[in-house]
Amino acid sequence: MSNSTLNLDEIRQQFPILNQEVNGKPLIYLDSAASAQKPLAVLEAIEHYYRNDNSNVHRGAHTLGDRATKNFEAARDTVQKFINAKSRQEIIWTKGTTEAINIIASGLSSSLEKGDEIIVSRMEHHANIVPWQMAAEKCGAIIRVLDINEQGELNVDQLDSLLNERSKVLAVTHVSNVLGTINPVKTLIQKAQKNGLITVIDGAQAVPHFQVDVQDLDCDFYVFSSHKLFGPTGLGVLYGKTAQLESLPPYQGGGEMIERVSFDHTTYNVLPYKFEAGTPAISEAVSFAAAIDYFTGLDRAAVEVHEQALLVSAHEQAKNIPGLRIIGTAKQKVPVMSFEIEGLHSSDIGTLLDQQGIGIRTGHHCAMPLMDYLGVSGTARASFAFYNTLEEVDQLFTSLAKIQRMFA
Ligand code: ALA
Repeated sequence: MSNSTLNLDEIRQQFPILNQEVNGKPLIYLDSAASAQKPLAVLEAIEHYYRNDNSNVHRGAHTLGDRATKNFEAARDTVQKFINAKSRQEIIWTKGTTEAINIIASGLSSSLEKGDEIIVSRMEHHANIVPWQMAAEKCGAIIRVLDINEQGELNVDQLDSLLNERSKVLAVTHVSNVLGTINPVKTLIQKAQKNGLITVIDGAQAVPHFQVDVQDLDCDFYVFSSHKLFGPTGLGVLYGKTAQLESLPPYQGGGEMIERVSFDHTTYNVLPYKFEAGTPAISEAVSFAAAIDYFTGLDRAAVEVHEQALLVSAHEQAKNIPGLRIIGTAKQKVPVMSFEIEGLHSSDIGTLLDQQGIGIRTGHHCAMPLMDYLGVSGTARASFAFYNTLEEVDQLFTSLAKIQRMFA
């Protein structure tokens, strides 16, 4: 039993997908860091939208168009409130975290100069490395790397020695998708700001676990995806301070992002539309708002207590599996446990667990530079959400013990 006040039976009824058998065993879904499951509220919002309101936004001189626009823009307000942005115009819809970072990196490449430095960390997802490399290639900037220690924590003090008059951007993840580490981004942002850097925070793995306040963090940009936050795929959020977004050039041209077009000269639309070319992901935005409403309607403190109980139980039980090494033992972690077992390939662990109905992720987790640093080609990763139970953690370790016996 968990020591939280969450009613897990009630919660799990809201996630119908969890109630099924996989390979003849009850499904145990431990891959929420890759994509989280969706509550009924989201499924119903998608169906309601397509049954009743479907139309294009900002265009129609008719009732459905008005309804779609109203709901789509209300979803933007929901996101604004969720991260406490100062203004709704600071919330840009994107395809996901990856596109959001590409918009920022591509835009900044036009103001960065040869020799300018972009600082990223060793634990970044490829989505927070490659767009910066592409930007650096265009403008001649240089990538600098902030290192980590053996526990998988950022070497915060090293930032002081990396910072110099050529440092222009700090792009770091709030939470590592591999290690589960929660980074002290507020401290990093303050250090970077003192040196005039633009700060970009990848919040994809943070927002499903704890409250984020972008005004309190005071970062310039904060990005995340809907599908990891119990919403639909194909949608993400780019938060930027108004002044930063004003000075960033548009990413794509097309409908909606213009003010006036002629063959001689085109002027761009105001925020947030300047970055929203083409018909947006309307049903996704509307149902994402339903996901946020559902999630914020839970007792968030109890969610955190429960998730930490899952993590503590996993770390404790890992000690009983000889040869199991946890990768990422930071003091501050979300419920993500990467691991390897001596003598077993991570993909075999994944396949054998799947035969027991347990879904985890294996491989490099889109973090090859981190894998190189760790000296592994990949890890097995169990990632938990508030809908997981302590009994499921127990079952994971019962199955791991069985797998290990098979190979002993
Ligand atoms: N970035 C996602 C993960 O860590 C897909 O699994």
